[in-house]
Amino acid sequence: MYDMKALHEAKSVDDAVRLLLEYPQAQIIAGGSDVLVQMREGKRAGAELVSIYGLDELRGVVMEEDGTIRIGSLTSFSHITKDPIIQKYINVLGEAVDMAGGPQIRNIGTIGGNTCNGVTSADSASTLFAWDAVIELSGPDGIRRIPIKDFYIKAGKVDLRPGEIQTAILIPREAYEGYEGYYIKYAMRNAMDIATLGCSVNVKLSEDKKTFTDVRIAYGVAGPVPMRAVHAEAAGRGLEVTEENIGKIGDTVFEDVTPRDSWRASKAFREHISKLLCKRALREAVRRAGGMTEEQSPAILNSKTVEALEKKEQTEASSGASCHMIMTDAESGKQYKLVRCRINGVERETMVDVRASLTDMLRNDYSLTSVKKGCEVGECGACNVIIDGECYNSCIYLAVWADGKEIRTLEGLMGPDGELSDIQQAFIDEAAVQCGFCTPGVIMSAVEILESGKEYTRDELRKQLSGHLCRCTGYENILNAVEKTMKKRLGKL
Ligand SMILES: Cc1cc2nc3c(=O)[nH]c(=O)nc-3n(C[C@H](O)[C@H](O)[C@H](O)COP(=O)(O)OP(=O)(O)OC[C@H]3O[C@@H](n4cnc5c(N)ncnc54)[C@H](O)[C@@H]3O)c2cc1C
Ligand code: FES
Ligand code: FES
Repeated sequence: MYDMKALHEAKSVDDAVRLLLEYPQAQIIAGGSDVLVQMREGKRAGAELVSIYGLDELRGVVMEEDGTIRIGSLTSFSHITKDPIIQKYINVLGEAVDMAGGPQIRNIGTIGGNTCNGVTSADSASTLFAWDAVIELSGPDGIRRIPIKDFYIKAGKVDLRPGEIQTAILIPREAYEGYEGYYIKYAMRNAMDIATLGCSVNVKLSEDKKTFTDVRIAYGVAGPVPMRAVHAEAAGRGLEVTEENIGKIGDTVFEDVTPRDSWRASKAFREHISKLLCKRALREAVRRAGGMTEEQSPAILNSKTVEALEKKEQTEASSGASCHMIMTDAESGKQYKLVRCRINGVERETMVDVRASLTDMLRNDYSLTSVKKGCEVGECGACNVIIDGECYNSCIYLAVWADGKEIRTLEGLMGPDGELSDIQQAFIDEAAVQCGFCTPGVIMSAVEILESGKEYTRDELRKQLSGHLCRCTGYENILNAVEKTMKKRLGKL
């Protein structure tokens, strides 16, 4: 159970504004991957929450008539990466958010939450700075639109007025047309680690590709809030596109960045890599813009071009708003909600305490003990389940959000007489075992991979499984089991 005072579920944007005004102490919860973790850690203990998770009108990406790209604030990282509009016009944003956390975090974490938490390391933030994004806020006085640089006030503080919620992030046509970009996240691990430094650049080249018409350079963790390197940008505009000039621009960022010492890295190290990352990102952006060939420009190290993922049909249920009301027990003051959902193919209904996580509900109400309680802060993957076709860490998913959803756990993989599924058998055949805590969650990630019907490389499989932290025992064997089952299902083995 979370240490939560009360939960209020908004039915619309106007309703969310009303609830925020009625309960001025209440905090917004979107996907909860920051809020619930902080609540577990005691930082938001006893908080009252307004949930906007059910507001499907805030999900998705559309192109407006004037060419503005509108990203709903509740759009998850994984849906941004897969979105065709993002892929076509501002692919670097999809690439940047594909580096956040692991697969389960990318399914629950929203771009609104990532920018509203005011954190300088947020993977979307520096890229949005480089796209000159505009933040749209709805509140008691109507709609307000402000440039992202004005939205960030100081570390952990953004310009959200009483009763306001962020409804969208807008990228105007003039901000992306003719630009190509690149984002590099420097972190100590490839997954489940926040950026030591992040650098996102966009360039616009002259028609003959020989001159920098415009250069935008943005950083995360180079200061208390995400920032643009304005001196370096000014130095770059109008310069000829040469390796020497890329070096010159990169060296100028020293005038802009103000990183600090932290346990992750020293100020001096961050200053050093801010120049390096700028140069590397510039080279790659220039190459994408058609300005330099691979031979003219050294290969980019420590960064990957993320292959565009195919657009998957949004499942019907993921757009299904909650259909039940929260009820308050008059005597105890405790809040409950009737949650009706499909679990492992069976319709289920139970009354849950609003403070319960989905792990609590699955284990306590349905005895689905394959769903383990490990870290309980979204890091280990032991509680991983499939909700409407995507993997989520159920420890940082409120049980009340399960209303109307289709949930699958390891127990649902077996046949009617307890026959094992092909992937479970493969784990046995390949001795692909982590401990009893870790294995069920890993198998559920494997199920999501296999059900995509795609063929993945070994490296891609590693990335898909990166939401599972532990490497105690048979990690290579796990990869073998998933790879072999994938090939068998595709008729290639
Ligand atoms: C294991 C783990 C790994 C992570 N790794 C990364 C990483 O590598 N990179 C990274 O950038 N982040 C990372 N995160 C942080 C987190 O996933 C992101 O910040 C995420 O985008 C937050 O979105 P959310 O919807 O879950 O936000 P929530 O937790 O629901 O909210 C976050 C904050 O924003 C406010 N808020 C949310 N939506 C709105 C809105 N529409 N209007 C107004 N206020 C709003 C909330 O009140 C809260 O203060 C990680 C988290 C975990 C648990
Ligand atoms: S990720 Fe949920 S228990 Fe660790
Ligand atoms: S903790 Fe489960 S295998 Fe390491």
